[in-house]
Formats: sequence, structure tokens, C-alpha cells
Amino acid sequence: MKTCNSRRAIRIAIILAVQIGLTASIVAQNNTFASPAIDARVEALLRQMTLDEKIAQLNQITTGYATGPGGITNNHDELLAAGKIGSLFNANTALQTNTYQKIAVEKSRLHIPVLFGLDVIHGFRTIFPVPLGLAATWDLDVIERAARVAAEEASRQGVRWTFSPMVDITRDARWGRIIEGAGEDPYLGSLVARAYVRGYQGNSLHDPSSILACVKHFVGYGAAESGRDYNSTEIPERLLRQVYLPPFHAAVDEGAATVMSGFNALNEVPSSANPFTLTAILRKEWGFQGFVVSDYGSLHEVMAHGIANDESTAARKALLAGVDMDMEGHVYLPHLAALVHSGAVPEERVNDAVRHILRIKFALGLFDTPYVPAASEDQSAPTPAYRALARQAAEESLVLLKNDPVDGHPVLPLQISKGGHLAVIGPLGDSAEDMIGSWAAVGRGQDAISLRAALQERAGQNQFEIRYAQGADFIGASTGGVSEALDDAQWADVIVMALGERALATGEGSARTDLNLPSGQQELLEKITAVGKPVVLVLFSGRPLTIAWAGAHVPAILEAWFPGIEAGPALVRILFGDANPAGRLTASFPRAVGQEPIYYNALSTGRPLASPDEPLAPDFGNRYFSRYIDEKASPLYPFGYGLSYTTFHYSNIHVSASKISASALNRGGSSLTVSADVSNMGARAGIETAQLYIRLRGTSVARPVRELKGFERVPLAPGQSRHVEFHLGGKELRFWNIDMKEIAEPATLTVWIAPDSASGLSQEVEITE
Ligand code: NOJ
Repeated sequence: MKTCNSRRAIRIAIILAVQIGLTASIVAQNNTFASPAIDARVEALLRQMTLDEKIAQLNQITTGYATGPGGITNNHDELLAAGKIGSLFNANTALQTNTYQKIAVEKSRLHIPVLFGLDVIHGFRTIFPVPLGLAATWDLDVIERAARVAAEEASRQGVRWTFSPMVDITRDARWGRIIEGAGEDPYLGSLVARAYVRGYQGNSLHDPSSILACVKHFVGYGAAESGRDYNSTEIPERLLRQVYLPPFHAAVDEGAATVMSGFNALNEVPSSANPFTLTAILRKEWGFQGFVVSDYGSLHEVMAHGIANDESTAARKALLAGVDMDMEGHVYLPHLAALVHSGAVPEERVNDAVRHILRIKFALGLFDTPYVPAASEDQSAPTPAYRALARQAAEESLVLLKNDPVDGHPVLPLQISKGGHLAVIGPLGDSAEDMIGSWAAVGRGQDAISLRAALQERAGQNQFEIRYAQGADFIGASTGGVSEALDDAQWADVIVMALGERALATGEGSARTDLNLPSGQQELLEKITAVGKPVVLVLFSGRPLTIAWAGAHVPAILEAWFPGIEAGPALVRILFGDANPAGRLTASFPRAVGQEPIYYNALSTGRPLASPDEPLAPDFGNRYFSRYIDEKASPLYPFGYGLSYTTFHYSNIHVSASKISASALNRGGSSLTVSADVSNMGARAGIETAQLYIRLRGTSVARPVRELKGFERVPLAPGQSRHVEFHLGGKELRFWNIDMKEIAEPATLTVWIAPDSASGLSQEVEITE
């Protein structure tokens, strides 16, 4: 048995080595921006450039849309002709980009093309679910394909650079930008980051349909204190390396060409002027070859942070720290020349920044092909194939949170007989515009299909009747229309309530101090539920909301995020059981806002509750534990959670060894196999996401109570079982120890194979010296 295991371990090691080799060569291909041929062209051009022309390459301005304080430049044409702009962002049609490009290429002295950027966050014109929803698919292939579609559409308009993916780990749903990322887990976040990079950048940047990824916001921005946007962050180095940096590292390793520095101050140093993160880690430790762009105006903002009293100092600190391009900060263009002349900034640092940027422009082929073919119709409408992918992504992103029986059978999937009555109630039920969510690039509300429209179509096909009532306003306390909604509820056999956040209430600058449904919507929900008919709550939101009342009183809840242009059809297919829900949460749903930040991979306290749900004794006898006196400590719905219309059963967890050695793990020569059987116990086909978690105890520093280290989406026919197998090696078992070394230590290792982060089957393994 032992020999068999060790042979198996050798086999696995060989397979892994080959895979690592393969990955390395794919990365090398992706990194075409760092080739000797390109570098030769860069050096030749650099030699011809004046200092002013070099500095101009570091200057990026918006063509119109502003997301920060300060005015907007109006004389782009003049600046382009004078060779004073390296990059423009927010131009988004072939006509616009070609027109600007013509001026840069034909009128500026050195004919250097401009690079066009845009926030293509979850699609360009074909809008997919918001990133938090896309992450909830746990389907890396779908995420990569969605990013590829976005790249194809954007590049056709001359936009060769997206400011995506946002890979900020977020543990606090009050922060509005949780919508833009993959949630709270660094392991999943890293894989999602890689998928986006592969999708955007394709096999080669030189391919005209490839666009640059920009990994943002470097780093720690998602840890904004109290969830308030742009707020400071305090992240000790171990936590930074363990939780916040890994998705950036993964994206850079995958070949991401650009990185955006954040707005936040990290440990008292603004991220956009932080030499430790931008130079020591990103450039020196990771060997990043692309360029760093600041966030919007963030170089100017280092003054408000208090580490520079004038623009010139801000420019000096940012450039020396490692920011290559100034996005709308307007501090490089006016001040860098004087800083170089006075010796405060070495010209070689400017040269390096220019090298990083020109390298990418050459890699994209912009010097050889600066224009895109003029589109007959700008930003053409989503093709049927793109729509099909948008629908698949939307369908997979939906998370079934609850599905209790009413009158003996679960509310979902809906069964409405011919001539039956369905009421759709709530402000999000008929708002196509909100379906595309925030940061929807050039997406259009009219491309989106609302829930009501799709239900209407289904009603025609299945011959049942449908009524719609808004019932409450999107925000605030108003319940104008509640009596019409109540009439519809009385008339209906089943009620679908479409509630939640407006798209506008999510994203940047949308921090919240409470996470409840707007009070008018909550009142509507309570009144309609009281009618006593089966109710399904379809919840649209850009973050976990506090839905404890619904969790206790509404029989079925489907989290929909903002599903994109195919919202309605995807929802209807899930509601009627044409497709089986398979989404899983990637951010914990709190019971109450006071639990925030709440995340599954927390440390244990010295006084953990035996069960996180243990109620407080009436005499407060069990109060001296890490708990709340007015709420449970656990989330309402944990990370990794999501139901299906079938049920899955886990059995036969098995580990390949009861002991493994830390030193072998550190040499990279060992791994543990953890396996189990997953069975579909129901009568419908479904997809289960089997998740592998670990905990290490007895180590030099405390490790989280659980950490995700693997997952697999397992399609299962009714009655079918499958064996899932995961491998844990040095990469998964190393951590930053008390001496700040990333190593495996002797420990007791608990492994779980689980349907979510709060349950599952476990085994223990000793990690010896
Ligand atoms: C500010 C945001 O923080 C960033 O994510 C975005 O890419 C830029 N504005 C450009 O629009």
C-alpha cells in the first residue's frame, strides 16, 4: 500500500512537473511584450525621444466620462498633435478611436500611437452577469469565454485595454465594489483572475482581438475600513501575502500586461506611491514586465492622503515608487521634466516607465496597425452566439438560497397549470435597464430582457396568465401601488417577487451602512407574503444583503445578482426547471450588518463557541465566548453555499496517507490525495461543486479555521455517483510562518470535502517534520 502510494506520489509529481512546465510555456507565450525583438524596437525609439516626449507617454486622460473630482480636458486634439498623450480612455467607437489615433500618428513628431482603454468589466456591448455573479458560477471556462467575447467586441472598436479584472479580496459587503470582484477567497479569486487574463489577452497580444488585462486595485483596496469607499486599509504583511496579494500574483503569473494602483492608503502609505508593493513585490519579487497605471486621479490624491504637500512631490513619490502612467492625476505631465532637471528624479526611471509602456504598444501591434476597420455600425448588437454565452453565464450565476416545501412540495421549480395565475411583483421585475448592473461599458438597457418580459413569453407558451405590479419604489419607504400588488397576490396561484438593489446603488462610491432591502420593498415583501400564497423571492443585488426576515418567512429565495442582458431568459429557465441551479456563493451572507466584516476563512479566537449557532442562555451564562448577545455568530448563508433541485450526498472520504512530511512538501516532492464520492440522490440531473478545504493546527502562527484549496464542478445524472479527487502539495500547504518564510510546517491537517464552507466530511493527517 505504502509503495503503491509512493509510486502514485511520484507519478503525480511527474504530472504536476509537466503541467507546471506547460503553464510556464503558456505564460511565456502570453508575455510577448517582453521579447528581445520588441525590446530592440523600444530602445531604438527611446533614443529618438526628447524628455518631454517620454513624459507624454506616461500621461493618460479621459475623453469625456469622469469618475472623480476635477475637470475634464477638452483640447485632446491639440494635445495629441503635440505628442502629449500616451493613452486615452473612454473612447469606445471605431470612429472615435480612429479619429484620435489619426491625429497622434499623423501629426505628432514621432508618430507614436495612442493606447485606448475602457472599463470593460463584465462585457463590452454583450453584458454578462456582474463579476460577483460570474464568480458564483465557479465555472472558469465560462468566465474565460465571457472575457474573450468582451475582448472581441472591444477590440473591434479600437479599445485594446480593459481596466479589469478587479481582483480585490472583499470581506465586507458594505463596500459597494464587492460587486466587481470574485468575493472573499484568495484561492478561488486567483483562479478567476487567471481566467479573465486568459480571456482578454488570448494567446498573443499581437492578435488584433486581444486586449490588455489590467489587474486592480493594487493592493488591499477591498479592505476599506468600515466598508467606506476609498477608506484607509491596515493589513499586516502576513495577511497581505496570504490573502490580498495572491490573486494579483496569479494574474501577473498568467501574463497580465498591466496593473492599476489603488486609491487606498495601505499601512499609512498610499497604494499609488507605495514602493514596497509596487517595486519590491511587484517588480522585484514577481518580475512584472508590463506597466503600472494609477487609478483615476490617485496620484493627485496622495496630497489629500498627506504624504505630499504639492503636485511635484506627489509626482516624484509616485514615479519613484513604481507608477508608470498617471491616469487623470495631472501631476506627471506638468512636473516630471523639472524633477529630472533638478536631479530629484533620475531620467533612467522615466526611461524605464516609457519602456514598460512602449513595449506593450509594440506587443499589441499598434505601431504597425494603429487603426481598426471602421465599423459600419458602431458597437454592433450582441450576436446570437454571444447571447447564448451570456445566457449560460447568467443561468450558472444564480444561487438558490432556499427552497422549502409548501403544501408538500418545494416551491421551485414552478409548476403552473394551464390557465393558472402568476403574479410578478416588485420594482426589479420589469427593469431591463437594471439587469445590466453597474460598470456595464457600452451595454444598453434595451438589449436586456427583463424578468417580466421573459415570464410573459413563457406564459404564452405554457398558457398561463401573468400580472405585474411594481408595488414599491426602488429606494426609500414608498409603497405606492401596494394595493394593486395585493390584488394581484390574491388573484395569483404563485407569486414571484423581484426585489433588491438598483444597479445604481452598487459599485464604486456606493458604500452602505445597512444591507437591508429598502424599507418600502421590505414592507411590500411582508404584506405579500402574509397573503399566504407560495412566494419566490428573486433577489437582485451587487452584494450580500441582510435578508434574515426573508430567510425565515419566504419559502424560496433565488439570488440573481445582476444577470446581464439575458437576465429574463436565464431566470425563467431556472424558475421553471429547464435548468437546475448550480451557483455557489463566493461571499458570506451576514444575518445582520453588525457582523461585517464576515468571511469563512477567519482565525479561531481563544474562545470559540462549540457551535457558531449556540444560543445565548437566558441568564447570559454562556456569554464569555466570542459571540454577539443579540445575534448568532454564523452567517445566514456561508461561502460556497447554494442549493439545487436535486440533493447530493457525500461519502467515503479518503486520504492517501495518514502522515506526510513537511520537509518533503517544502522540497516540492510530496503530495496528498484526498478523495470522496458524490452522489445525486434525486430525480433530476444537476451540477454539484465539490469543495476541498483544509485547516492546519499546531503551526507557528494561527491559520484560518478553513481554507479552500480545490473544487470541482461535478455534473451528475439522477442516481449517478462520481469519485472526486484532489491533490494537496507544497503549494497548497505552505503559508507565511512566524519568520515570514513561506513554508510547510509540522501540523495537524484537517481536510474536508464539502458542499460549502460550513459542512462536509473530514479526515485528519499528520504533517511530520
Ligand atoms: C476609478 C476606478 O477605481 C477604476 O476601477 C477605474 O478603472 C477607473 N476609475 C477608470 O474609469
